Amino acid sequence: MKTVAILISGQGSNMASLVHACREERWPARIAAVIANRPQAPGLALARGLDVPVEVVSHAEHPGREAFDAALAARLEALGADLVLLAGFMRILTEGFVRRFAGRLVNIHPSLLPAFPGLDTHARALDAGVRLHGATVHLVTPTLDHGPILAQAAVPVLDGDDAATLAARVLAVEHRIFPMAVRWLLEDRVRVVAGRAEVDGVSADERLLWAGAR
Ligand code: GRF
Repeated sequence: MKTVAILISGQGSNMASLVHACREERWPARIAAVIANRPQAPGLALARGLDVPVEVVSHAEHPGREAFDAALAARLEALGADLVLLAGFMRILTEGFVRRFAGRLVNIHPSLLPAFPGLDTHARALDAGVRLHGATVHLVTPTLDHGPILAQAAVPVLDGDDAATLAARVLAVEHRIFPMAVRWLLEDRVRVVAGRAEVDGVSADERLLWAGAR
């Protein structure tokens, strides 16, 4: 049985998809806590409603990044977290934190990395005129929105899309690939070879979800 912590900053819909999958698919895991860096994060109420323990480690109450990351790391170590899932967690983590949790830290990012790291990915995808957009689940390295890719989901950009319609299409596939990739980690099927993730018993095809209109 592995211990999982989920970090959020906002709505927490990815967090909810992870909690549901853990229960419905009977993962060999216990979700020890949902931790938000903002006390007002709406996802906290969502997690409470799902009967998951919630905690706040507020970045605003720490004098800087190092202090916040130290407090967060202390909580995660106290929980005994084997996996730390960044589910819409909107804080850049220090290199020290990332190295401490290397191999245990997983992020979902709303773009087909390495395209569009950082913020406002949907607006930037529309500005760039790409026809294909999506989301990526990856192990975290000290470089922002970078690291061995576990799974990706691709969606089309449709005529008439704005950032909100495109974000909604991407979010729906995020809810599918994040639990899928976490399960591979819980089952110890992931190895990193020369900076790339390999997943035992899972084909390249299964690691790409295409949610196209055609
Ligand atoms: C998701 O698109 C996530 O990838 C991004 O912010 C959004 C958070 O959604 N970083 P939620 O909080 O999981 O609902």
